[in-house]
This record gives sequence, structure tokens and C-alpha cells, in this order.
Amino acid sequence: MNRPLILPDISEATLAQLRKAAEEMLKHAYAPYSHFPVGAALLTESGHIFQGCNIENAAYPSGLCAEAVAIGQMVATLGSTPVRAAFIVCKGHSPAWPCGTCRQRLNEFAASLMWVYTSTLTGSPQRMAFGELLPNSFGAADLQGIAR
Ligand code: THU
Repeated sequence: MNRPLILPDISEATLAQLRKAAEEMLKHAYAPYSHFPVGAALLTESGHIFQGCNIENAAYPSGLCAEAVAIGQMVATLGSTPVRAAFIVCKGHSPAWPCGTCRQRLNEFAASLMWVYTSTLTGSPQRMAFGELLPNSFGAADLQGIAR
């Protein structure tokens, strides 16, 4: 689905809360293999915030990204809920955008207008409309009309 790329802003106060929620997660990240802790926070359209951190595994592909964990927290708590913004924080030298798999995971719950923010611990955030991060995405609408 192509999303319009002109999005309403999120208030500074809400954005600061969202960033803090993502930063908090860096303390919880379990990243003994990559040494690359990531924190994520999701703001739902209903105004709730859900947090996640990356959780690595000795069997590397079994590890979880911070975004996946935050989505899990959200769905386990509220069920499927449209997400208005995601904030990612990493300890790296430059901000990290969600990986390809997490873009697809976020696509499942993204509100029609969703912002993605990313920042290092000390830097200023960058932001993109989700529709720019994952254009021409595959989603639930593509499965409509299939006989079951
Ligand atoms: N990672 C995330 O948590 N989110 C992303 O979008 C990119 C990568 C994690 C996975 C792994 O634990 C570490 O960063 C290095 O790839």
C-alpha cells in the first residue's frame, strides 16, 4: 500500500517520552554477541507506549530485534493496535533504521500515517515516514479476495 508522506507531527512532549522509553531499553538489551544494544518504543494511536530491546541468542538467527519485542509487548497487552510512531535508539556511532524484517513486522501494525524516529544515545533524532522506509509494501490488503 502506498501511504501519503505528509504526516501530522507528534508533540515534543510525547516525542520526549517515546525517546526516553526507547533509551530505557538499552539497559535491558541482551546483546553479548553483537555488542550492539538496541531499544525501541512504539506509540499507539490510543496513546500507549510499548518498549522492547534486542534479545540475542547463541544460535544467532534465533535472536530477536528490539522492534519485534516491542510489537510482542504491545500485542500481548492490548492486542492488535495501530502504531503512530516508532522510536529506535542504539549505542552505535550513527542512528540505526529498522532492518528489513522489522520494517515488514511494523507494516503489519502501522497506522496509515506513521513516523519512524531513530537516534544514537546522544544525537538528535532523524525521522522518516514509514511509507518512505517501506514503499510498495506487502500487507493484509494483498491477501483479500483469496478463497479459503
Ligand atoms: N537490531 C535490532 O534490534 N533492530 C534492528 O532494526 C536492527 C538490528 C539488533 C539485532 C542484533 O541483536 C543487533 O541489533 C545487531 O544486528
